[in-house]
Order: sequence, then structure tokens, then C-alpha cells
Amino acid sequence: MSTPSSEQRYQLVDSSTGKKTEIKALAGTMGPTVLDISGIPKDHGAFTFDPGFMATASCESRITFIDGEKGVLLYRGYPVEQLAENSSFLEVAYLLLHGDLPSQQQQEEFTNSIRYHTMINEALLRFFNGFHYNAHPMAMVSAVVASMSAFYHDSMDIHNARHREIFAHRIIAKIPTIAATAFKHSVGQPVIYPRNDIDYCANMLHMFFSVPCEAYKADPVAARALDLLFILHADHEQNASTSTVRLAGSTGANPYAAISAGISALWGPAHGGANEAVLTMLEQIGRVENIPKYVEMAKDKDSNFRLMGFGHRVYKNFDPRAKIIRKMCHEVLAQMGHTDNPLFELALRLEEVALKDDYFVSRKLYPNVDFYSGIIYSALGIPRSMFTVMFAIARTVGWVAHWQEMISDPGMRIGRPRQLYTGAQTRDYVGIDER
Ligand code: ACO
Repeated sequence: MSTPSSEQRYQLVDSSTGKKTEIKALAGTMGPTVLDISGIPKDHGAFTFDPGFMATASCESRITFIDGEKGVLLYRGYPVEQLAENSSFLEVAYLLLHGDLPSQQQQEEFTNSIRYHTMINEALLRFFNGFHYNAHPMAMVSAVVASMSAFYHDSMDIHNARHREIFAHRIIAKIPTIAATAFKHSVGQPVIYPRNDIDYCANMLHMFFSVPCEAYKADPVAARALDLLFILHADHEQNASTSTVRLAGSTGANPYAAISAGISALWGPAHGGANEAVLTMLEQIGRVENIPKYVEMAKDKDSNFRLMGFGHRVYKNFDPRAKIIRKMCHEVLAQMGHTDNPLFELALRLEEVALKDDYFVSRKLYPNVDFYSGIIYSALGIPRSMFTVMFAIARTVGWVAHWQEMISDPGMRIGRPRQLYTGAQTRDYVGIDER
């Protein structure tokens, strides 16, 4: 990749010695100036300290742009609102992977390739029998995705562009099958094989809800809702799970292992696990009259309680995805006949109360993508423990796009942060008798 240029120059001055180090400013195509500090250790004998990467751009990327202050999210330059309105998940997948929207022929070829790689190896299917029936689906999905590397030795040369493409299509095609199998295992129903004659999201609903003894046809409203949710979750630049995929992949580890690492990182309640936590919280709150009590708890630093689905590291304004999902909630619940969904009513009231409260206003804490998504998943009949898995299916596209971008960059290096060491100074070993 080429390095963007900027006229700006900064200087780091060591006040004790007066030594000056010039710091280059890098200008991206959009977004704030980024200071190139990579020369500081060599020039200055010092590292920079940035716990939680609050101020650090870990890489150069052309995939997704976020303006957190304005609440803007672009995939390859296209506003997510426009993609949600006009596109489909697989078209967005193509866009994220390739950089541009596909032509008709490219779209057909890509969709067909995904459609005809949906089955998983029978031996891989048997892995599920080793899990207890109440295993969390995220545990099963991350383990089975990691195990895929044991099945595809033939095409795992990360430096071969065709191998990378085969991997991309395989994982995007098969992850719904793996997710649905985890679900079927948890409810004790027979595994339902994918259908290649229906589209991506209809097929997923078929694998989730079809049973061998009855005919099943996915509700087109539900399939479109899922497709829309997947578009909104497909990528989000260098979030915790994507950074995990990049870091694991930067070692040259096989891509299935890297994606599995991303799935594990997504599981946490501060990240993708929040959609599950939001519904648990809404049920805990229970009634509108209890909202003030829980809002007070969320503000109390002595309590561990936080408003799940509120706040975001990057957005200091409305998460644009939350706005779309809230609107979707109204439409999907109405279309599916769930007009008086009590959890949705509670969520709307909670948002209203929090957004009038100085604690949330002053900290710029707004509803994030996960605040409303669980309500739609519930309306579609998807159980709570599967919510984060649904997120993982969509985000797989973003993870793959970032992994591809990183591996195909000739300047790629292993990700290896340093630290501020605050442990014991050098000391001599003391034998156990003398301690
Ligand atoms: N409820 C109550 N207070 C909150 C919340 C919340 N949900 N989120 C942040 N705060 C407060 C913090 O206590 C802190 O207050 P202080 O300045 O008085 O100490 C301040 O707001 C800043 O919060 P940080 O935790 O420092 O912000 P950070 O960027 O590290 O964390 C995060 C962002 C993890 C998303 C946080 O807002 C959170 O825990 N939210 C709830 C979980 C959630 O919804 N996660 C999903 C995020 S979206 C996604 O990953 C797909």
C-alpha cells in the first residue's frame, strides 16, 4: 500500500536533553491526521503508551470508515444507510472483499460460489456430538471454525491469492451451516442440510427452523430482516475482534485459526456479546417503572451494572446502525404481528430516559448497534444464546476482508506491541529453604 502524504510536521522534544524528533503526519483520504510514531523507539529510545489503543491506528486500511463524532459509517466509501436500503448482504460481502460493487456477472459468480459451498464435511459435523447439549453455541462455533483448518490443507497457502479466495468463499458459505448445526445440537433436533436453491438468509432460516417431519418455507420478511442485520454488522474497521483476527493472522497462522480467534474476541459482553446481554438486562428491568432504579445503578461507580447496548469506543453520537435497527424493529415487529412487544417498548423508554440524563449526555453515551438487534432476533425466533453467533456470521465477511488486506500487503509485519514494565527489578534466585 502507498503511504498517504501530508505537509504537517510535529516535533517531539525531550525537555531534559532538548533532543528533538520529527514526527511525520499521515493524511488518510478521510478522517483525522495520524502521527507516525514508528521512529520514536529508534530516534528517542522510548516507546509510546496507549492502553486500550485509545489513540492508536494499528494499520492502514481501505475497507471501512467511521466518523464517531458525526455518526457516519462507510463501507468502501458507501454510506451504510444506502447499502441497507438498496443492497443485499452478499453484494455487501463482495464490496467489502473486492473494494467495488460487483457487475451483474461478478455478482452471479460470487453468489453461486457461496451458494455451492454451504455443506460441511461429515466428519466435521460429528464434532458437535462431542459437545454437551447445553454448551454455549459460541464455544461450538469457534471450535469448529478452528477445526476447519484440519480439513483444507490443499488450499491454505496464505501467499497464494487463489487459495485466499477459496478460503474466503468457504468460510462465508459454511459459517451459517456451522451456526445452524450448533443450534440444532443445543435443542436436540436433527441437523438440517443447507439448500442451494434459496438465498443466503432464507437458507439460514431453513437450517435453523426446518425439521424433517414438516414442510418449511422461510418467511420472506424474516429473511430480509436478517439480510439487513447482516449488512449492518458486516464490518466496523479495527474493532476488538477484527484486530484480533489481524493480530493472529499476522503471525502467518492459518486463516481459520485467525477467524476462530476473532469469534472468541467477539463473544465478550463489551463487544458482540452485548446483544445477548441487552435482552437479559431488559428482562431484569422488567417494567417501565423500574427504569429509573436501573439507570441510577448504571451511573453508580460502585455497582458493576452498565446499560448494555449503550456507549461505544468510537461513536460519540448515535450509532448509525442503531438508528436503522430501531426503525427496522417497528417494521419487522408490525409485519410479523408482534405489535405490542413489551421488551421493545421497554427499550424505547429506557433510551428516552437515558438520553435525557446528564450522565449519559455528558459522556456521549448513545444506543449502539446491539441495543435493538436482539429484539429483532427474538421476533425471528432466534434464541438469545445464538445472538452473538448471528453477529459472528455477518462479521466473518469483515474479518476475511481485513485478513486479506493485511496478508496481501507486501509491508505486512507480525503484530507485536510492547509494554510499560512495572514488575520487580532484577533480583537473584533464592533457594526454597531460604525463603
Ligand atoms: N453504562 C454506564 N456507563 C457507561 C457505559 C454504559 N453502558 N458505557 C460507558 N460508560 C461510562 C464509563 O463508566 C465511563 O465513565 P467515567 O468517565 O465516569 O469513568 C465513561 O462512560 C466512558 O466509558 P469507557 O468504559 O471508558 O469507554 P470505552 O470506550 O472504554 O468502552 C464500551 C466502550 C465497552 C462499548 C462501553 O461503553 C460499554 O461497556 N458499553 C456497554 C456494553 C456494550 O453495549 N457493548 C457493545 C459495543 S458495540 C459492539 O462492540 C458491537
